[in-house]
Amino acid sequence: MTGRPYIVGNWKMNGTRAMLSEARAIDRAAARHPGVDVGIVPPFTLISAMVEAAQDMAVGGQDCHAKPSGAFTGDVSAPLLADTGAVFTIVGHSERRALHGESNAEVQAKANAALEAGLGVILCVGETEAERDSGQAEAVVGAQLDGSLPTGEDAAARLSVAYEPVWAIGTGRVPSVDDVGAMHRAIRAKLSAVYGEAGAAVRVLYGGSVNAGNAAELLAADEVGGALVGGASLTAESFATIISAAAALAEA
Ligand code: 13P
Repeated sequence: MTGRPYIVGNWKMNGTRAMLSEARAIDRAAARHPGVDVGIVPPFTLISAMVEAAQDMAVGGQDCHAKPSGAFTGDVSAPLLADTGAVFTIVGHSERRALHGESNAEVQAKANAALEAGLGVILCVGETEAERDSGQAEAVVGAQLDGSLPTGEDAAARLSVAYEPVWAIGTGRVPSVDDVGAMHRAIRAKLSAVYGEAGAAVRVLYGGSVNAGNAAELLAADEVGGALVGGASLTAESFATIISAAAALAEA
């Protein structure tokens, strides 16, 4: 575990008001582990209600538009997110890149817009299975970082990077701890090359089929500063176990 752990739950397109009780239970788990930064990313529709329910966890958005306002039906800008009480946003999730055709340049514009609006940013990167099988994983992730890392002054200060291999998302398959460590070291080297000393403070999260059973092992890999959790963040029972695993490693 590198630094103060950051454990973030991405609820994706799940979560109605009925699930606010689950969010409150996750918030209580966050309160029990003050050494861990906990974030929850509900769908846009639930952000305001979750901000009201949350005392010990940060609430974020899943994406934002690169423009602050305008005629963009269905989109949500970074200032609108900030207005709901969200304090950070994910950008460049592989589901956005694949299903909405988002390029590195668009993702970078979104990251810059989020920072401009005062939000923290979690920038997602990750290779497909074919790219890993052909030995291209580090090159692909390196190119994603080159193309989509935010560029503003002080960008590194409110940035986290999430390494999410596409083939590990929602599949129950995870890379070996050695492969996670190798990729996270490569990401750290890139962050230092781009941001200099400030790059050392950027937290690098692992995401992709993290669950209550494998969290401790994955969080212990080299240069892993936390986790971005999908399915296992939807219930307080499993997500709280991941939060305590991070707390135990941070205290060790
Ligand atoms: P799963 O944890 O469900 O594999 O999702 C990972 C993810 O995409 C988080 O952003």
